[in-house]
Amino acid sequence: MTYPIRPIREAEWPAFAGVLEEGFGMTPHPSQDARWKAGTEFDRTLAAFDGDTIAGVTSVFSLSMTVPGGALPVAGVTAVSVLPSHRRRGILSSLMRRQLADVRERGESVAALYASEAVIYGRYGYGRASANLSFRMRTQGTEFVAGAPHDPSLRLRVVKPAEARGDYEQVFAAVAGLRPGRYLRKASFWDDVLADGEADQQGAGALRSVVAEDDGGVRGYALFRIKPSWDANGVPDGELSLRELEAVDPAAYALLWRSVLDRDLVSQVHAVSRPVDDPIVALLADPRQLRAGWYDELWVRLVEVDRALAARAYSAPVDVVIGVEDAVCPWNARRWRLSADATGAECKPVDDEPDVSLPVTALGSAYLGDGLLAAQLGAGLVREHTPGTVRSLAAAMAWDPKPWAGLTF
Ligand SMILES: CC(C)(COP(=O)(O)OP(=O)(O)OC[C@H]1O[C@@H](n2cnc3c(N)ncnc32)[C@H](O)[C@@H]1OP(=O)(O)O)[C@@H](O)C(=O)NCCC(=O)NCCS
Repeated sequence: MTYPIRPIREAEWPAFAGVLEEGFGMTPHPSQDARWKAGTEFDRTLAAFDGDTIAGVTSVFSLSMTVPGGALPVAGVTAVSVLPSHRRRGILSSLMRRQLADVRERGESVAALYASEAVIYGRYGYGRASANLSFRMRTQGTEFVAGAPHDPSLRLRVVKPAEARGDYEQVFAAVAGLRPGRYLRKASFWDDVLADGEADQQGAGALRSVVAEDDGGVRGYALFRIKPSWDANGVPDGELSLRELEAVDPAAYALLWRSVLDRDLVSQVHAVSRPVDDPIVALLADPRQLRAGWYDELWVRLVEVDRALAARAYSAPVDVVIGVEDAVCPWNARRWRLSADATGAECKPVDDEPDVSLPVTALGSAYLGDGLLAAQLGAGLVREHTPGTVRSLAAAMAWDPKPWAGLTF
């Protein structure tokens, strides 16, 4: 059975959103639904129809994403859901194929997404490309190492989040280009970050904020919620949920973390989605206090392997013939010679014998610099024909800092 697919009209939003609500089992507040709708690029939505019923949906945000050495237009895949009555009939597969064709036609060479379940998207050529850490730490025992930066010209200022948006945007614009995976935030993304109705608070308290600044202006900000409480013995036991902490330099970064960890009446800090190489790991004298959980974050799909590989920078020179396997985007399935050095990169179709053969997912995993190729070789998922090739390709594709998007889309 086939289900015709087309973008929706704005008037069809309630039915489109209804499929998302059913799939995820969620009940958005009207204000959340309105923000969601406002951020939707209707010409990039896709809906699969069973007669008049929308049975499956997806959409794309047109992102500008940082990649090693620059930034690229990236298709930010979002809003994926199929009605429970229609699952496992191939609707997601047909939506994904159509979407990849549309993305290619639009000229984007890379697609990226956050997955609700890690097992879903590998079959469509997406590889896990970044990870994040979640910390749940007691504030006691979180002293910094000797030599942690301290700038006496810096001071903290308590601000109301709704009034400091311009400062956040300015700090964010200064840091977004420094780390692969970060993407420029449209107004609707900031609306989401700063949303603070009862439904957004989810019992964690109102959104609060401090900025770090000197006479020249704001150098960083922390956004968080606090749930105050006292234990049975009357000992303060509040929990601070850190939403964002961004700074343009190490001294502002350290001061903001201290303000979070030293907050009166707070005994634990919960920080969701921090980068795997978050400098806080180096700042804490006892990093065991972080009690970190590890999660997959962005999944990346090279929609056009040659254009994507030529569009990023490399950490070391490399010259390698890669045999790419790609059943979903057959235009990628061939041999490519990737040559890169400090002056640039090119990726050309060739008929030479491959030095390495790999599924397109492996290139998606390595694309933002997370350095996963060696693990894929060890796992037997990448086949090396010329000894040493994977090691040199992995070294060239690795990047510091490690990729991290930081904000779910
Ligand atoms: C995930 C979801 C979109 C899948 O839609 P679907 O139309 O049932 O998927 P398809 O029928 O096209 O399945 C394609 C393949 O993926 C597999 N698959 C799909 N979802 C899967 C899941 N959650 N776990 C494991 N396998 C899954 C199917 O078994 C099928 O495998 P096959 O090709 O080997 O037969 C749907 O189950 C859903 O809406 N889930 C809840 C919302 C959600 O998680 N959305 C994803 C947001 S990132």
